[in-house]
Amino acid sequence: MTAQLVVLVSGNGSNLQALISATAQDPANGGLDATITAVVSNRADAYALQRAQAAGIPTEIAPHQGIDRATYDQELAYTVASYQPDLVVLAGWDRILTTYFVAHHTTINLHPAKPGTFRGLGAIEKAFDAWQHDEITEGGVMVHYVPDEGVDDGPVLVWEPVPFFTGDTLDTYSERVHHTEHTVLIEAVRLALAQLPLTSRFGR
Ligand code: GRF
Repeated sequence: MTAQLVVLVSGNGSNLQALISATAQDPANGGLDATITAVVSNRADAYALQRAQAAGIPTEIAPHQGIDRATYDQELAYTVASYQPDLVVLAGWDRILTTYFVAHHTTINLHPAKPGTFRGLGAIEKAFDAWQHDEITEGGVMVHYVPDEGVDDGPVLVWEPVPFFTGDTLDTYSERVHHTEHTVLIEAVRLALAQLPLTSRFGR
């Protein structure tokens, strides 16, 4: 049975694009046996929304301004539930979700750093800066479950190192990180879907 994904985004959506491509590909040939039933953004100007629309995926804009976090997340949880996801994927989503949300939806998050490092926004810049100061020798990319309100923290599904090379600039390093993310995310979604309990798997 084909799984249903809801993807939460806030920006460019290159990782959403990777998911769209993987779900369009034959599962027998490396594709994901999944459908993206909705893309939700907290920002109306997120380019990710245009990518979703171009692929014929329903979109929702859920602005967070002027609403308290608890109410926002309850409403978000309901909106997402209406698209019946088996898995919620945070692909460049820039808000912390409350425990209420993640208690209702199995949720995974993509973060452009090694597990346990450079949590929060600006992780690529922080890692690059640390490399320039000889504090680290490699960066990384990870996807983890979101069990609570911890920032970029939770049981790791997949992670991969991203090397630095002599002469790297922030741009060349960022490009390598994003390139790595696009495969790590697909692998993580595949793994997370396989790990859903058999009793509830796709039992919508
Ligand atoms: C990615 O680097 C992701 O790890 C981080 O935000 C960025 C989103 O990129 N959380 P995009 O919108 O998928 O292009």
